[in-house]
Amino acid sequence: MTASRISQRIAAIAPSATLAVDAKAKALQAAGEPVIGFGAGEPDFPTPAAIVEAAVLACRDPKNHKYSPAAGLADLRAAIAVKTKRDSGYDVAPAQVLVTNGGKHALFNTFATLLDPGDEVLLPAPYWTTYPESIALAGGVPVAISTDAASGFRVTIAQLEAALTPATKALVFVSPSNPTGAVYDPAEVEAIGRWAVEKGIWVVTDEIYEHLVYGSARFSSMPVLVPELADTCVIVNGVAKTYAMTGWRVGWMVGPTDVIAASANLQSHATSNVDNIAQRAALAAVSGDLSAVDEMRQAFDRRRQVMVSKLAAIDGVLCPEPEGAFYCFPSVEGLLGRNFGGSTPTTSLEFADLLLEQVKVAVVPGEAFGAPGYLRLSFALGDDALAEGIDRIADFVARG
Ligand SMILES: Cc1ncc(COP(=O)(O)O)c(C=O)c1O
Repeated sequence: MTASRISQRIAAIAPSATLAVDAKAKALQAAGEPVIGFGAGEPDFPTPAAIVEAAVLACRDPKNHKYSPAAGLADLRAAIAVKTKRDSGYDVAPAQVLVTNGGKHALFNTFATLLDPGDEVLLPAPYWTTYPESIALAGGVPVAISTDAASGFRVTIAQLEAALTPATKALVFVSPSNPTGAVYDPAEVEAIGRWAVEKGIWVVTDEIYEHLVYGSARFSSMPVLVPELADTCVIVNGVAKTYAMTGWRVGWMVGPTDVIAASANLQSHATSNVDNIAQRAALAAVSGDLSAVDEMRQAFDRRRQVMVSKLAAIDGVLCPEPEGAFYCFPSVEGLLGRNFGGSTPTTSLEFADLLLEQVKVAVVPGEAFGAPGYLRLSFALGDDALAEGIDRIADFVARG
């Protein structure tokens, strides 16, 4: 009998469509092609100087050259507790905070800690690609619940109710959402939280885009609106999007102390402490003010409006206005089956491929988010590139 070289668990991880687009775009760029990339999920701004300076100083301090507590530097855990109270109004103790290698790692820890084999996790779609994979890796079963532009990509209690089974262990709740930019109203957040309490299921709520909301939209934290949820809720957050620190890799979980202690135990064997220099930079970030993210938000808001109006003007494209994060998520169903220079794309994946090949514009197809028929375009790129990229798409569609 020949054992397969790769374990079934790892072989089952779907290749990331996001990375596939990115790899193609980078290959074309490397070959000298003028690619405009709407694929990136990161701010185009540098990390604020004061945060970088804190890291430079930390590098020079020998105490940061050694192992530190696996759950995170005590100062940083305490500062995250203070920041959580400041930003969302949620009261937590430092022992309820675990510092991780980014928000992604916080999600992996959370699902590994909460799920037994066969446990079902309700996952409103469109969803960020990492959720189903990290749930499945932990032995759980992601149960996607489709939402569409008509409902503002917001899941309803009736839909949750219909998907609930005796095996349901948790719900993933993300507002503002990647990829749709949807932001739930406080009343909706509260109703969903109350429903979860009533059904006795956990909520894993991803608050990484908490500061990126536009217009009249307001971020609200579920366990603040539903205090009874505190014992069955894990918040995932990090410095990546708020402080333009995607490459520094610092995130965190906030949850009940037993879950945090169990995850810390896992982390002590898997990765040990997060890089001390990055933790010191994160400490400067969360203990500083929010002026950098206020500036970024203004730029993103301007670009958001330009992108929405330009996309909406393209025949066959429907573009709801995102209220948060930095993505537009237009439907291109109206373009599928049409002829474009001899090719007839029938899926958003094929349409995205065609855009990259023909007009050198990289977008992520909705298939990556469990939502075929849509595209995700980040508006975290420069104003000129943004305008030119959408003009290229518009010309491509108009030429037919
Ligand atoms: C919704 C959401 N959660 C979490 C993350 C993870 O961020 P990081 O691992 O860079 O902290 C991302 C990054 O794209 C995201 O979009």
